[in-house]
Amino acid sequence: MTALDLSSPVAVVGTGTMGQGIAQVALVAGHPVRLYDTVPGRAREAADAIGARLDRLVEKERLTGAGRDAARARLTPAESLDGLAGCALVVEAVVERLDAKQELFRALEDVVGDDCLLATNTSSLSVTAIGGALRRPGRCVGLHFFNPAPLLPLVEVVSGFATDPASAARAHDTARAWGKTPVGCADTPGFVVNRVARPFYAEALAVHEDRGADPATIDAVLRESGGFRMGAFELTDLIGQDVNESVTHSVWQALFQDVRFTPSLAQRRLVESGRLGRKSGRGWYDYREGAERPGPHTAEPADPPAYVVARGDLGPAGELLALIREAGIEVRAEDVRAEGVRTEDADRGTWLVLPGGGRLALADGRAPA
Ligand SMILES: NC(=O)c1ccc[n+]([C@@H]2O[C@H](COP(=O)([O-])OP(=O)(O)OC[C@H]3O[C@@H](n4cnc5c(N)ncnc54)[C@H](O)[C@@H]3O)[C@@H](O)[C@H]2O)c1
Repeated sequence: MTALDLSSPVAVVGTGTMGQGIAQVALVAGHPVRLYDTVPGRAREAADAIGARLDRLVEKERLTGAGRDAARARLTPAESLDGLAGCALVVEAVVERLDAKQELFRALEDVVGDDCLLATNTSSLSVTAIGGALRRPGRCVGLHFFNPAPLLPLVEVVSGFATDPASAARAHDTARAWGKTPVGCADTPGFVVNRVARPFYAEALAVHEDRGADPATIDAVLRESGGFRMGAFELTDLIGQDVNESVTHSVWQALFQDVRFTPSLAQRRLVESGRLGRKSGRGWYDYREGAERPGPHTAEPADPPAYVVARGDLGPAGELLALIREAGIEVRAEDVRAEGVRTEDADRGTWLVLPGGGRLALADGRAPA
């Protein structure tokens, strides 16, 4: 294990949503933590907000009163970057702009020792590009926490092109010692989570833009049939439409405008109109006092059909047949290889035929012939 010793001071720069959460994680793990933000007074406010969250942990009996007092005593706001001298790790969670992050890390190199790790919480910028500004780029690593950082276990530990393997190992082991689940990944656009998540948002937005269904209905389908905790619209309202859109843009640009990652015009309009989600009181949904949340459009329950026809081997969709039989509906099998069936008909695929003539077929995203 190469985790940082608990006596090593950790600094968090940028004390907004993520900075506060990350500081709380390092603090509760046992480190002295210093906070710095360019907006005067914000680091102090962040320390107070973290203190209030520690109080709530005590109320929930997840932290002792003595533990809270000791943690509070280890937390100090710094007036300037110079106050971060002697830190063993700095995690930056400042605005998502390459120039801001590069400038900050360059300035930090003049303040901290040579063996201090410089970690970025960027969601979508290149760790290689951020570290490229440094005299010692090997110390720069991505430490990508998720919101809310104290609750979500996953941390992506991102190795840039020039990241020293020992720096990545130290960041990884430190995150693990903080009770997180670190996952090493390369410096590819969006890393793993934000790349995999893009199509989740994009398809939901595309269905809405194609007038397939409204946000409340798509969210209900994702939640209740897809098994997701939140649908794409309510989740982007929570994240912030501006933040979510800028990550999409960044991943799309970094992947040479690959059409699969194309940003959404509907989301653009939302951002332009200032409907940023919960934080602005309105996004896809209305969060203002007294506003009603629309429900999904659902079909009226209908009587079950007396029978369905299963044509050919349905492959993985065949599991439906057991459910259909369990519901007391007769399944009439049609053998496509039976004598008398013309070859061109047999090649036309396999599907379930409902009494009204509707067909249910397994597809790979394209409409069946
Ligand atoms: N919000 C999320 O869900 C989320 C999740 C994972 C990663 N991130 C990433 O974390 C970073 C911060 O995001 P956030 O949502 O906490 O933003 P935020 O706007 O809540 O906070 C940013 C803070 O940084 C301060 N700041 C800006 N420039 C600074 C500088 N040069 N030096 C010191 N302080 C500076 C601002 O005053 C502000 O307090 C971004 O890189 C973002 O992409 C955000």
